Formats: sequence, C-alpha cells, structure tokens
Amino acid sequence: MNFDVLVIGGGPGGYVAAIRAAQLGFKVACVDGFIRNSKYSLGGTCLNVGCIPSKALLQSSENYAQLTHSFADHGITCSNPKIDIAKMLSRKDTIIDKNAGGISFLFKKNKITELHGWASFVSNIDGKWTISIDDKGSIQEVSSTHVIVATGSNPRMLPQIKTDNKNIIDNEGALSLNTVPEELCVIGAGVIGLEMGSVWLRLGAKVTVLEAMDKFLGAADEQVSKELYKNLTKQGLVIKTGIKIGEISEKANKVTINYEEAGEQKTLVADKLMVAVGRTPNTIGLNSDAVGLKVDERGFVVVDDECRTNLANVWAIGDCVRGPMLAHKASDEGIIVAERIAGQHPHFDFNTVPWVIYTEPEVAWVGKTEQQLKDAGIAYKKGVASFMANGRALGLGNNVGFVKILADEITDRILGVHMVGPFVSELISEAVVAMEFMASSEDLARIIHAHPSLSEVTHEAALACDNRQLHG
Ligand code: FAD
Ligand code: NAI
Repeated sequence: MNFDVLVIGGGPGGYVAAIRAAQLGFKVACVDGFIRNSKYSLGGTCLNVGCIPSKALLQSSENYAQLTHSFADHGITCSNPKIDIAKMLSRKDTIIDKNAGGISFLFKKNKITELHGWASFVSNIDGKWTISIDDKGSIQEVSSTHVIVATGSNPRMLPQIKTDNKNIIDNEGALSLNTVPEELCVIGAGVIGLEMGSVWLRLGAKVTVLEAMDKFLGAADEQVSKELYKNLTKQGLVIKTGIKIGEISEKANKVTINYEEAGEQKTLVADKLMVAVGRTPNTIGLNSDAVGLKVDERGFVVVDDECRTNLANVWAIGDCVRGPMLAHKASDEGIIVAERIAGQHPHFDFNTVPWVIYTEPEVAWVGKTEQQLKDAGIAYKKGVASFMANGRALGLGNNVGFVKILADEITDRILGVHMVGPFVSELISEAVVAMEFMASSEDLARIIHAHPSLSEVTHEAALACDNRQLHG
C-alpha cells in the first residue's frame, strides 16, 4: 500500500490518469467511492449518471421519435408502437455495467491497484502523502509520493429546493424515471436540461424549461443557439428565458413551481421537476484544511496551468478544477499530469476543447464564437454552408442546420467552427484537428471530402470563406 501515484476518483479524469501513469512505469492505485445500485462502480459521474447513460436514453428516445414521426416518410409504418421504459432503462444499465467492468479490466491489465471507499488527506511525512480510505466504515491508510485529485462534481441545488430523486430530481433521477411524466418542468436550459428534457419530450412528456438568463444558450455562437431554439420549440419543447424562480412546493405527487416571467407571477404544476442549474466541485470530503490544500470559495481545487496545486506532488484535474466540466477535458488533463510526473512537457489548449450538445439537431463547436471575436476586436471572415441540399443528409431524412467556419481576415487561420445539424458530434473532430494543426480555411477547402457525406458541408463552409462555395 505504498505507491508512486495515488489517484483519488475513478471518473474519466482519474481512471485515465491512472492508466497513463501505469503505462509510464509508475506503481499506481486508484481509489473511488461511487456507489450505484448498492455496489461500488468505477467511471464516475460520466459513466454512472452522466455522459454514457444520457446518450443511451437519447438514442432510445430518438429511435422512438423516428418510428412515430419520420419513418413514414421512408415508407415504413407500424401500428401501435409501444414504449417499454423498464427495458429502455435496463439496456442503459447494461451499457454502464459493461463499461465499468471494462475499467476494472484495464486496471488489471495495467497492474493498477483498484481501491474502493472515500479518500481523505491525512499528512505528509518525508515527502510521502498518507491518505485514509473509508470503505463503508472500515478504514485503511495508504501512502504515495504523488496524489492526483480527480473527485469530480455534484449537481448544484437551488436554495429553495431539495431533490429527493422522486418528484424533484437531478440528473440521476432524470436517468431513471420508470414512467413517462405527463408534465415535466426543467429548471435550467443548459446542457443537461436540454438533453434530458429532449429524452422525456420524445417519449411523450410535456416539457417546460425555465431559464434564468435572458439569452438562450449564451455560451454557443448566437446563430447556432437561434437554430437550436427554433428546432427544439418546433419539436414541442417549451423554453422560457429571463425567468425568476420563486417558491416551490410538493403536494399529492405534484410539484408546484412559482416563477416570475416579464414581471408577471406565474405557476406551473408538474408531475416531476428536474433541477439542472450547473454543478459544484466535489471536494468537501478531502480533508483539505488539515493539509492546507488550497480550495477556492466555490470549492474548486486551485491549480496552475499545469494542474499543480499549492502542495508539493499534489495535482488536481477534471470537474473539481477550473475550466469546462467535460469528460474529455478531464481525461486529457489526466494524461497530461501523468506525463508531467514522468518529466515530460505535454501541452493543454483550452481553445481546442470541443463542445457537443446531443440534442436533435446536435450542436458542436470549437474555438471562438463570432461574439468573442467581435469583443476581442479580431477581424475575421466567415463561411457558412447548409445541410439543406446535402445528399447524405437528405438520405438520412435529417437536413436541418449548417456549418460555420470563422477564419482570421488576414492570415486565414481557422479561429472557430460552429455546427448544428446531423451527427455534428462526429464532424467536429475534423475542425479540432484543423485548429490543432493551425490550418487555414483554404487548407480545409483543398482537402478531398468523401461523397456523399455530411463532411462535405464542412468543405463547403471552408470554400465559402473565400466566396467560392460550389453548392451554395
Ligand atoms: P467524475 O466523473 O465526477 O468522477 C469523480 C469520481 O470521484 C466519482 O466517482 C466520485 O464518486 C469519486 N470521488 C469523489 N470524491 C472522492 C473521495 N474523496 N474519495 C473517493 N472517491 C471520490 N461530459 C462530456 O464531455 N460529454 C457528455 O456527453 C456529458 N454528458 C453529461 C451528462 C450528464 C447528465 C452529466 C451530469 C454530466 C455530463 N458530462 C458530459 C460531464 C462529465 O460527466 C464530467 O465532466 C466528467 O464526469 C468529469 O470527470 P471527473 O473524472 O473530473 O469526475
Ligand atoms: P449548465 O451550466 O450547462 O446550465 C445550467 C443552466 O441553468 C444555465 O443556462 C443557467 O443560466 C441556468 N440557471 C442557473 N441558475 C438558475 C436559476 N436559478 N433558475 C433558472 N435557471 C438557472 O449546467 P448543467 O446543464 O447543469 O450541466 C452541468 C455541466 O455538465 C455542464 O456545464 C456541462 O459541462 C456538463 N455536461 C456536458 C454535456 C455534454 O458535453 N454534452 C451534457 C450534460 C452535461
């Protein structure tokens, strides 16, 4: 129980850091305390109650929506389609179990010691950290030269509401509702609100999303947000912005939400209320005060650009530190920290972290938005191409949306790429590669793209930067 590297947290940040550190020849342990269905389960928020189960349900609900709404266009009909929610949830759980087991397998393969329980700092004596692990009341101590804190995040709550994951739910509850609620209210039109709202809307719920900000999806490029708003509202999602949430009460299996909209007091009575107003870092149980680990007023572990904390050989990554709360950001930081411990000098660029929202249509972007370029006074040109006439999109029966490329006016270097449309979660990778290699829009325009493919729209957008779009 004496290690070179101990990772606290087995989410996409922690388990990836552990594997990379083991590959580099260190003696590694990873301790995780996540419990799902009364059993320890590796994979953190992402695998157990986040990325993976939400995408499983998004796919199931999308299949149902296609069966009931768009298959008829293909000449395929079926009478009386039914939803079996229990089966849908059990399929999702099987996917989680498979992946969680996969992480254990990778730990064994890489000779990583898998520990379970809640870890906290005890002391540092002669350069060795002592960490205590509480495994359901049974305590053991381990020691390690390096510690990587990858403890992730928890849902943020509103002061007036307590979630019980029965009628007032967070992401965990929204991933396991065993019936379709007639009326679902979602507070927060962020990524979770829109994705999980879409799942239950497609399955038949009436979904109302109440958002505090005046602007819908302010982090995305405005043209993209507008296109998404148009499509989601067309599907029946009710989105209200500029909302002030008031008192919330629960009675007779109904939740009453009082709110203010444009100065008017309103009330919504829903079967379920989902709160999705952001997440807070999960650092309370670390005993950080005892060893002087610096944590900011919001609970984030304070780190520098290289994920070093204020304590020697203590590093922190993922959702519990600054930066976007995304699984791939956490994993990349994990790789980078392991390599830094090994004396290497890897680089992390926040500007090329891709963002994806798995709604219908999907949204994806990388780099700067038009608004950010304007605010920074950077002269840019843009090329926009639509999926409307793209042959592959028409074949799919899904041809809404566009790709927009923003490039420096003088150097032509790509500064941002914004997509809304079919499978843009996959298409965005080309843009990330282009930006990592500092490509110009002309570079993309001169690359051959397969026909017929959705990627031809990216090609057309690159051509459009130079006003030479062929199909526009
Ligand atoms: P986590 O995944 O939260 O893992 C931390 C782990 O550490 C947990 O298992 C926790 O129990 C454990 N832990 C905490 N403290 C201790 C301790 N003291 N001792 C032992 N163990 C401890 N991101 C994407 O990129 N794409 C998506 O599609 C996506 N979808 C999401 C959908 C939902 C509904 C949610 C909630 C999140 C989603 N995210 C998505 C965000 C993503 O889940 C997080 O960014 C990611 O999980 C962060 O990884 P992490 O390793 O930092 O932390
Ligand atoms: P979020 O930050 O994306 O959105 C929260 C929304 O709630 C914001 O629009 C905010 O203005 C609103 N809000 C805050 N307080 C409010 C209030 N009092 N009343 C009404 N609205 C209020 O957070 P969310 O959706 O909880 O997701 C957390 C994180 O998880 C995201 O930041 C994202 O990084 C990650 N995630 C990523 C996904 C992906 O990559 N596809 C999917 C789901 C989550």
